[in-house]
Amino acid sequence: MDNKKYRVLFFDSGIGGLSVYQETMKHNDIIPSYLFDNLHFPYGIQPDDVVIETVVKLLKNFTERYLTDLIVIACNTASTVALQYVRENVRIPVVGVVPAVKPAAQISVNKVIGLLATPATVRRPYTMELIDRFASDCMVLKIGSSELVEIAERKMMGLPYDRKIIGQVLREWCEGNLVPDTVVLGCTHFPHLRKEIQEVLPYAKLIDSGDAIARRVGYLLKELQNNHIPSVEMENSDNIITLNEAVAFCTDGSKITSCLQQGFSGFGFKRVEVFKV
Ligand code: DGL
Repeated sequence: MDNKKYRVLFFDSGIGGLSVYQETMKHNDIIPSYLFDNLHFPYGIQPDDVVIETVVKLLKNFTERYLTDLIVIACNTASTVALQYVRENVRIPVVGVVPAVKPAAQISVNKVIGLLATPATVRRPYTMELIDRFASDCMVLKIGSSELVEIAERKMMGLPYDRKIIGQVLREWCEGNLVPDTVVLGCTHFPHLRKEIQEVLPYAKLIDSGDAIARRVGYLLKELQNNHIPSVEMENSDNIITLNEAVAFCTDGSKITSCLQQGFSGFGFKRVEVFKV
């Protein structure tokens, strides 16, 4: 078995995927890159066809230009609609993130679960199927919010944000008889607000998919290492760029600010560059 370091690309509309990246880095020795589509951010209010087309195009182009062994779509909103199309268009393993409904249903005692995600994710057929399949014995209350996504972005960039909004968004889960004892953070931006959300919902158990994704990545990297999954032989490999350090890429260079650069450097990225298709 060699000690090859694999190159893993994390993808999201914004900084949310860094929560998945962080969990993955705890357990795996990899060379990460991070691509975020700040041109179309937030995905939670975009039509499905725009998300599918954009995500497929970006990931296909990125993996043709930069040597990549595995992709993590670290975005529930993109995974719940575009995962199968990405898999059809790239030749490397793709891991998607979907709301952690199954573990939430297993640990909920009062059988009332809250699903906190983007407006798109809470209405997706994929999400409904997850609930029917794994949480049919539970009442699943849903809140779709892009305001919390924006707040998470501001927090990560060290910009001021209004904490009161978090309480307002979650108000219906704080009072009355139907209060969830378990809340699924079904958007990768929300673990960045875990402390603030927990303050508003002190009795709820907050669940996200970060740890499960980290373990899935670890499993697939072992499969690659043991040649159970063929590593892709890159055609035109002379033209492909090999990154040997953590670099972040965004789709709208006009939004690269010093706050953004600093935010990413806090997560170990050397720089933020523009990626143009
Ligand atoms: N972080 C994303 C998710 O997991 C999407 C946020 C957005 O762009 O609306 O759903």
